[in-house]
Amino acid sequence: MSTSPNDTTPNPAAELIARSNRLGADPKNTNYAGGNTSAKGTVTDPVTGRPVELVWVKGSGGDLGTLTESGLAVLRLDRMRALVDVYPGVDREDEMVAAFDYCLHGKGGAAPSIDTAMHGLVDAAHVDHLHPDSGIAIATAADGEALTGAIFGDKVAWVPWRRPGFQLGLDIAAIKEANPQAVGCILGGHGITAWGDTSEEAEANSLWIIDTAAAHIAEHSRPEPFGPALQGYAALPQQERRARAAVLAPTIRGIASHDRPMVGHFTDSDVVLDFLASAEHPRLAALGTSCPDHFLRTKVKPLVLDLPPSAPVEDSVARLQELAVAYREDYQGYYDRNATPDSPAIRGADPLIVLVPGVGMFSYGKDKQTARVAGEFYVNAINVMRGAEGLSTYAPIDEEEKFRIEYWALEEAKLQRMPKPKPLATRIALVTGAASGIGKAIATKLAAEGACVVVADLDLAKAQAAAAEIGGPDVAIGVQADVSDEAQVQAMVDAAVLAFGGVDLVVNNAGLSLSKSLLDTTVADWDLQHDVMAKGSFLVSRTAARVLIDQGLGGDIIYISSKNSVFAGPNNIAYSAVKADQAHQVRLLAAELGQHGIKVNGVNPDGVVRGSGIFSSGWGANRAAVYGVEEDKLGEFYAQRTLLKREVLPEHCANAVFALCGPDMTHTTGLHIPVDAGVAAAFLR
Ligand SMILES: NC(=O)c1ccc[n+]([C@@H]2O[C@H](COP(=O)([O-])OP(=O)(O)OC[C@H]3O[C@@H](n4cnc5c(N)ncnc54)[C@H](O)[C@@H]3O)[C@@H](O)[C@H]2O)c1
Ligand SMILES: [Zn+2]
Repeated sequence: MSTSPNDTTPNPAAELIARSNRLGADPKNTNYAGGNTSAKGTVTDPVTGRPVELVWVKGSGGDLGTLTESGLAVLRLDRMRALVDVYPGVDREDEMVAAFDYCLHGKGGAAPSIDTAMHGLVDAAHVDHLHPDSGIAIATAADGEALTGAIFGDKVAWVPWRRPGFQLGLDIAAIKEANPQAVGCILGGHGITAWGDTSEEAEANSLWIIDTAAAHIAEHSRPEPFGPALQGYAALPQQERRARAAVLAPTIRGIASHDRPMVGHFTDSDVVLDFLASAEHPRLAALGTSCPDHFLRTKVKPLVLDLPPSAPVEDSVARLQELAVAYREDYQGYYDRNATPDSPAIRGADPLIVLVPGVGMFSYGKDKQTARVAGEFYVNAINVMRGAEGLSTYAPIDEEEKFRIEYWALEEAKLQRMPKPKPLATRIALVTGAASGIGKAIATKLAAEGACVVVADLDLAKAQAAAAEIGGPDVAIGVQADVSDEAQVQAMVDAAVLAFGGVDLVVNNAGLSLSKSLLDTTVADWDLQHDVMAKGSFLVSRTAARVLIDQGLGGDIIYISSKNSVFAGPNNIAYSAVKADQAHQVRLLAAELGQHGIKVNGVNPDGVVRGSGIFSSGWGANRAAVYGVEEDKLGEFYAQRTLLKREVLPEHCANAVFALCGPDMTHTTGLHIPVDAGVAAAFLR
């Protein structure tokens, strides 16, 4: 695309990206993926060879902090501005979004967003539209217009609330024209827009508005904007509140997943705890958020537990269940009150934000990133409420307007265009012994199929390294745990629950093998293998089952046992006996946990040499010596013993795990799948 301007003029797109990245890097300036920026400039039109005026504007979706050229929409300014003549009025302003496509210059780039009109119509070379907490605090104050005048004089204009769109662009353009001295405006209920003749000037004006608003709030705010401290609602000490969060999280995830399963995020930042420790938090939380970006992410309001952290856990759980029923009724009422015949269908009535005083905030989404950003947005909302209440009274836009944004046809269309989720999306997997071999392959496979994965192993650094190979912290985390230690297993499950909201798929894979004859097997050999594999699996299953049961979302427990659980050969008394123990745990737990919708199955691998720590740390050399082959030929040797003559790799075991817990085998429990390339002596019967 030939959009690069003459060498003599600055490159507007490059300047715009640099400015956007700087603005987006600081959370005080705008929320995640919120706001948009633009630049206008002249380039040579490749069709006519003559100059053509363009506007580069951040397109739909994407975040300013990481904006690149592909995130920009590029439009011809003359055509964009000509739309004013065909604009059919505010009732049909949504039609203008499709019209922007007819203004595009060249191909590629991002789809023009709803805010394109504001950028194109405002008569300034550079425009920033941002959602800073400080600016939204003024924008949502009951006397926001008067405050704007008091804080900024005539340098910042007030634009009354209007839904983002073509008309808002016209409004802002008119206000700028009528106020040539202004450097920007506060958009009621929404955010700020600033402009400048140069990129530096626009950026400086944006920052000036943001910082001036923040300084004014800091200086003039009432001492306790959220009211006095609420007796008994102070934050628990960190360890206690994390433990309580872990106990409550499965119930709360179940509540948030009534309509569809959700991944969770937990925050116990001071901002959240201070809000929940103050007297006004129930009133303010019920008023709901205001910035248009928030409604899809956080819903209009959160569910707030109205018990102090000293309440018995059972009471908190019971109350949360009651509040969930009330929340769903309330949300349905909101939908019914506001929906029109052409509104999109209700998207589910569960809360996306759940606030637990003294403990913290749980936020939910279709994946970890969405859940985390929902939590960030609610922190933005708390900051906004603090600022607005400090100076005035928090007065967000009214319910009907909130609904129009949440169920906006254009937003619905965006949702409908989303790619189909992967088969394990929203599932949270916990794999033990996952830093190596079969466990690592399982964790990798489950993540590739869309699950969030907790990689647990003896050594924290190894677990974290394996997790980092699989994906960033929104996909996989590493935790340390010796599965034979009850307290460490509890800490591992708690870590999983706090990282992703809960657990759905539990894989008992941790293990080790010491091939010894009966006479050579020491009590220590026996105990070690039984501690890790029999007791370890029992502990992991028991601890995780509590989470699975509390969530009420079913789930899977999968044991990596072995061909040796059924096959009898020499020099394997301790290992094969413990594998038989694990195999029977599968049947016992399938029988016991079926009533909770929890499936329990196993995989019986054999001869997985490549990538296996068991083989590389002695067992392989021993086996090779027993069979009289080179150690690096052991995999091929095993292959020749199989019916299919194929070598078994860790990935084949991982595929079996996915088959068991994926969307296809919903009616199978108590089963073992051999992954051994065919060993007749280990056939199950
Ligand atoms: N490799 C095979 O041929 C084969 C065959 C049948 C069954 N299996 C079973 O598959 C599982 C994985 O074996 P692999 O071959 O991938 O071995 P591996 O050594 O590569 O992986 C096992 C992992 O378990 C971890 N581990 C050991 N003790 C632990 C403990 N107490 N707590 C937490 N983690 C612990 C280890 O650190 C290691 O990372 C084992 O249960 C093994 O018995 C393997
Ligand atoms: Zn906006």
